[in-house]
Amino acid sequence: MKVEFVSAAGAAEILVVLVNEGRALAGAGADYDKAAGGALTRAMTSSRFTGKTDSTLTVSAPAGVDAGAVILSGLGDAAKLNDKAIESAAGSAYHAAKLSGSTVLTVDATGLSPEQAARIGFATRLAAYRFDKYLTKQKPEKIPSLTTIRIVCADGKAAEAAFTPMSAVADGVIFARDLVAEPANVLYPVEFARRVKALESLGLEVEVLGEAELEKLGMRTLLGVGQGSRRDSQVAIMKWNGGKAGDQPIAFVGKGVTFDTGGISIKPADGMEDMKWDMGGAAAVSGLMHALAGRKARVNAVGIIGLVENMPDGDAQRPGDVVISMSGQSVEVINTDAEGRLVLADCLWYTQERFKPKFMIDLATLTGAIIVSLGKDYAGVFSNSDAVANPVIAAGNKVDENFWRLPLPAQYEKHIDSPIADVKNTGNGRAGGSITAALFLQRFVNDTPWAHLDIAAVAWAEKSTRAIVPDGAVGFGVRTLDRMVADTYES
Ligand code: BES
Ligand code: MN
Ligand code: ZN
Repeated sequence: MKVEFVSAAGAAEILVVLVNEGRALAGAGADYDKAAGGALTRAMTSSRFTGKTDSTLTVSAPAGVDAGAVILSGLGDAAKLNDKAIESAAGSAYHAAKLSGSTVLTVDATGLSPEQAARIGFATRLAAYRFDKYLTKQKPEKIPSLTTIRIVCADGKAAEAAFTPMSAVADGVIFARDLVAEPANVLYPVEFARRVKALESLGLEVEVLGEAELEKLGMRTLLGVGQGSRRDSQVAIMKWNGGKAGDQPIAFVGKGVTFDTGGISIKPADGMEDMKWDMGGAAAVSGLMHALAGRKARVNAVGIIGLVENMPDGDAQRPGDVVISMSGQSVEVINTDAEGRLVLADCLWYTQERFKPKFMIDLATLTGAIIVSLGKDYAGVFSNSDAVANPVIAAGNKVDENFWRLPLPAQYEKHIDSPIADVKNTGNGRAGGSITAALFLQRFVNDTPWAHLDIAAVAWAEKSTRAIVPDGAVGFGVRTLDRMVADTYES
């Protein structure tokens, strides 16, 4: 999607006019309505369109307006105008026009600030995302025709400047979505590592550790998960040094299980294909690093992702096996399907030991239980530090990613105690499954301020309800963490 900023609409294939709740035409809307002899107002009053968010009304070729069609797109209550409302209006307009056959969508943003005008470009890029590389027989009429979004605003230069960093964030989200959507026969640990290695072109430093190096480091809980796979396990380390030299970095850690069969504790067949996106945490970390580098964030950040495939095999790890983690703690593996925490245990320990970060935030599609407790629209937050957790939750609110904090109760620690090892990888049956998983992780963070984001419910949208999040891979977490870094660590 090409995004351009212009000072006048000129002749438009399709013109988008924004409308506030109460049928109030925004920007140059009233001028267009006047030129059309009131056709836009008449179209609104003879329909149920009132300017609510996520609603549109298409008016075909109104006489007096130089456009093949005008799409009225709802901004909602003018008094409550925020980023979310602008993003929805832009996304909804895109969807209303995408199959029209037109190639250019012209959006009147003359009533908005340069920052808000830029946001229209950002939102359209995310709304237009499609993972269609394996569709070889698409019907031409089902392929979106729009290739350019032309945004009309008073100060195009300022809008362009505001758009540059936003577009870098969109690049990060799209990078994450592509990773999440990719099937596991294509995206296995070595291929994932290869794709993040390529981010060096953005100025990131990327190290990739193979099995021999991981063995030397003592990452036995991570390697145990990959033991049954023909695919080699990998850990990739991405570094962005945009802050002061020598400044302690902030760190992000991702679960990258490129496919989770459950291992010997094998999952049922129904829905197992979903486990190709069990690397959503690693994708979010990679997308975030892409975004930070792309917009040259003034911060030192590291991203560490643990990449493994969890398969049953004659060599696979067994329920009851005891493995020694990099931290030195022994772990009894009760259920080989509780593998994410085993991968993260070594990655978290490695991260705090090597980088001594200001904090660590891990993202993981860790537990089915988080879907039971919070439903499909919330990620769970677990943290030993309000100073880490609160800015994440606040940033999430700003970018329309919902987080809810859950406790790390000391009285549940006994549920992960093992009679024969320091800790076991399951808890109290199904009770508090997301919490006992988080308590397990906490045993591997040492005294580092830390937050764990369980994104199992939100990494994939079966049926999305957001205009700028297509069905499928969400890229959840990239926008929140990018915003949290910008608001808390760059100012
Ligand atoms: N990857 C799954 C969690 C998951 C479930 C992610 C559904 C996305 C959608 C994880 O590795 C897992 O299998 N967790 C088990 C833990 C249990 C064995 C203690 C679970 O949630 O059932
Ligand atoms: Mn599992
Ligand atoms: Zn898993």
